[in-house]
Amino acid sequence: MTALKNDLLLRAAKGEEVERTPVWLMRQAGRILPQYRKVREQVGGFKELVTNPELICEVTLQPVDELGVDAAIIFSDILVIPEAMGLPYEMVESKGPRFPEVNRSEKDLERIHVADPSALQYVTQGIQLTRDALHNRVPLIGFAGAPWTIFSYMVEGGGSKTFSQAKRLLYQRPDMAHALLDKITESTIQYLKAQIKAGVDLVQVFDSWAGILSMEQYSEFGLEYIARICDEIYEVPITVFSKGAFFAMPEMGHLNCQVIGLDWTMHVKDSRQQVGWKKTLQGNLDPCVLYGDTATIQQETSKMLEYFGPYRHIANLGHGVYPDTPLDGVKAFVDAVQSYEHSDRLHDDYTG
Ligand code: CP3
Repeated sequence: MTALKNDLLLRAAKGEEVERTPVWLMRQAGRILPQYRKVREQVGGFKELVTNPELICEVTLQPVDELGVDAAIIFSDILVIPEAMGLPYEMVESKGPRFPEVNRSEKDLERIHVADPSALQYVTQGIQLTRDALHNRVPLIGFAGAPWTIFSYMVEGGGSKTFSQAKRLLYQRPDMAHALLDKITESTIQYLKAQIKAGVDLVQVFDSWAGILSMEQYSEFGLEYIARICDEIYEVPITVFSKGAFFAMPEMGHLNCQVIGLDWTMHVKDSRQQVGWKKTLQGNLDPCVLYGDTATIQQETSKMLEYFGPYRHIANLGHGVYPDTPLDGVKAFVDAVQSYEHSDRLHDDYTG
C-alpha cells in the first residue's frame, strides 16, 4: 500500500500529532456542487447515480478537486442497506426517500434477511475505482447508517418529524425491534468490512435519529448495536456520529471507536470532559453559519477551532451541509480551517 500524500485526517483520528486540523464536510459529495447536479440530471435520477460505480467515483472526487478538503467520502446512501435486506427504497424528487413496503409485523420481519455484501458490489466497485483515481491524495471515508436510524426508515417507510411508528414498536414489541436491529447490525458489519476490503481508510456510522430517543432507550436500542459494530471493526478507525444524543456522551466514551462526531448543539468542553482524551472529536459548526458572509464564517470557525484545541480534532459541520448552501460559504469554511494557526499548540486541558 502506498502512503497517503495527505494523511492529516487519519493521524488526527488516531490521536497522532498534526501540523494543522484536517477538515471535510458531511454530505460534501453531491448536493452543493453544480458539477454533481449536472451528472445527476444527465443520468436521470439518484438511484441511477448511486448504483453506477464510474459515476460514484466521479462525484466522490468532485469536492476533493473543487474544495480541497482533507478527505473524500464515498458517494452512496445509508439506505442501500435496507434495500439489500429486502426493502427497496425510492428517492422521490425534492421529497426524499420512500419505502413502498415497510417492516411492522412478524410477517414483514420474516421477509427481511441479513444483506449479502455481494448485493452491494456497486458500492465496493465504486470504492475501488475511487481509490485508484484518488492517487493517494487524501484518505477515503466509507460509511453506513447506524442500526437505529436504518430501523427508523424501515419501520416508518420514509422521513418523519416524530418517527412515532418506529418508536411505537420499541414499546409494543421490543422483542421484534431487537430482532430487526440484530439483522441490520449483522448486515452493517459485513458491509463495512466489504468497504474496508475494497479500500476505504476510515469508516463513519451515521445515527441521524439518535436524538429522538430517551437516554435509556438510546442505550438499549441504539448504542448496544453501535458497540457491536465498533467491536467488530478494528481494521481502520471508526467514527460514530449520533446526532442529538448529547445525553449519551459519557456512555459513548466507552465505545471501541476512535472518533465521536458532535452536532452544533453539543458543548465542546463538556463533551471532551465526558469522553476523555482517548477519542478524537469531529464537528461541529452549525451548517447555517455557511449562509453568513466570509468574515462571519471565519470568526465562527476560529471560535470553534479554539474550543476544540489543536489535538484530537477533525473539523466538520455539526450535520450534513444543506443543499442550498452557497459554494462560496463552503469554500470560506474550508479555507478558514486550513489557514488557522493555533496560538497555543500545547492545549491546557491536553493530558495526552
Ligand atoms: O457525505 C457524503 O457526501 C456522502 C454521500 C451521502 C448521501 N447520503 C448522499 C445523498 C451520505 C453520507 C448520506 C447519508 C444519509 N442519507 C443520511 C445520514 C446523514 C444525515 O444527513 O443525517 C441520511 C439520513 C440519509 C437518507 C437520505 N438520503 C435522505 C433523507 C435524502 C433526501 C434528502 C437529502 O438529504 O438530500 C437522501 C438523498 C441523498 N443522499 C442525496 C444525496 C446527495 C440527495 C439526492 C439528490 O441528488 O437529490
